Amino acid sequence: RGFEKCPEYPLPYAFGTWPKTYNYTGRFPDGFVWGVGTASYQVEGAYREGGRGVSIWDTFTGANTIDMPGGNCSYCCKSTPCTPNEHMVDKGATGNVATNSYHMFRTDIALMKSMGLKHYRFSIAWPRIFPTGSATGEPNAEGVRWYNTFLDELLAAGIQPYVTLYHWDLPQALLSPPELSGWWARDKDGKPVGQILPNWKHYVDTCFRSFGDKVKVWVTFNEPWTSTKLASGSGKAPSIAPFMNASLDPYIAAHNMLNAHAAAVEIYRGKYQKSQGGIIGITNNQDWREPKTDSLEDIAAAERAILFQLGWFSEPIFGAYGDYPPEMRAVFGDNLPKFTDAEKKLLKGSADFFGLNHYSTGWYAATEEPGWDMTYGVSSEDGFIRAQSTWLYGAGWGLRKLLNWVKRRYNPVIYVTENGWSIGAKTAEQAANDTSRVMYYANYTTEVLSAIRQDGVDVRGYFAWSLLDNFEWEMGYPIRFGTAYVDYNPGLDSDAPLPNTHVPTAGFQLRRR
Ligand code: NOJ
Repeated sequence: RGFEKCPEYPLPYAFGTWPKTYNYTGRFPDGFVWGVGTASYQVEGAYREGGRGVSIWDTFTGANTIDMPGGNCSYCCKSTPCTPNEHMVDKGATGNVATNSYHMFRTDIALMKSMGLKHYRFSIAWPRIFPTGSATGEPNAEGVRWYNTFLDELLAAGIQPYVTLYHWDLPQALLSPPELSGWWARDKDGKPVGQILPNWKHYVDTCFRSFGDKVKVWVTFNEPWTSTKLASGSGKAPSIAPFMNASLDPYIAAHNMLNAHAAAVEIYRGKYQKSQGGIIGITNNQDWREPKTDSLEDIAAAERAILFQLGWFSEPIFGAYGDYPPEMRAVFGDNLPKFTDAEKKLLKGSADFFGLNHYSTGWYAATEEPGWDMTYGVSSEDGFIRAQSTWLYGAGWGLRKLLNWVKRRYNPVIYVTENGWSIGAKTAEQAANDTSRVMYYANYTTEVLSAIRQDGVDVRGYFAWSLLDNFEWEMGYPIRFGTAYVDYNPGLDSDAPLPNTHVPTAGFQLRRR
């Protein structure tokens, strides 16, 4: 707090206008990394090719034959089960084809080259390497070959890969039976058990061994908060797989995931880091929470919102004790699982950098009860510029404050691994007039620069989300985050409305804006 007293943070930010001038015009440090990102399920497509196994996202989007377990839909209260994507805005959307990048990767690379990009963040699909998530044996050779070809061609184009090992496409086989397995596995006393650990270790070890000569920056998990908390079925609309029912406890999944992160880092540092010369970290996500008023209650609520999301997944790694934030333990008590001393030791310091995904800012106000579900009453966010995504409100000062929050609490090396803006353009022509996106990037990158130069935050890189429009999880295809437009239905009159279920067909064109 305190920034708002500075003249460079005038009130109009909060009332719907983008800042007209940018008050800091210094240079980014030499070697600052600029890139764009994607994730396997959102772009690859080819879901039944190359020996790829079924992932929980195939199930969630209804694209495979495995029925969703569970009874009534907890969201719409129908007496019959719903297919998960019945509730998606873009009903029927799947990642079966997505942007077809499995086949069109050379087009993607050419696109990146034409944009002058030198860094690309993408993820490896676990079910392409081990179709059923097997804990032993040889990987799927076709999957390994595909990523090696892709990496070779990226490097030949002068583009450095930043590779995420888990961007949510868990092999379905590791989630059966649903309530007892995957990241959600627990013993009969309800304690987390890392029964997925051997599978995960075998997968990551295989990736380091197979790709580590080409990949010098690894991210273990992308947004574990989203893929545990929002995926656990705790009452709201199904948004993130597997979302089956409320018995999936996010705190169990988070615990298992954090231990898996530490295990991956231990393998990398122990067997590969020295010879391969790379770095490894984790990407967490947080939107800024600004206290709605100056009351102590609201200030505490906003701080809690950040601690109980970003802190939940960062404190064990970047904090002093290898454990959850004490503030969280104070509220959740024994409901928050406990790390053993050995686990704490492994977790503490288990990252070479702090990956940060950030998009939005909102006001936070205290509610009666700081509850288990951590909503804490997001109050009206009116006044901010809103993107096509209903949750995305732009205010670059939120990113600067968040970077300062991270510095104050952990003081790590930071990469902004995602930041971006969605629009709802239906045509390339509309998409080309994406003034709001241009303003967003100008505003946010300026705030990153201020954080570096004026506040001394150690930010080493910035990745825009995304290289191209893609499968936007719960919202499907109408939400466009791409810095390049994707024409999903080539040949259609560009002014014609898109069909309701515009599952993309292979062979569409990518068009640079
Ligand atoms: C974060 C996720 O990592 C990414 O997959 C998603 O598309 C963007 N946010 C936008 O919602």
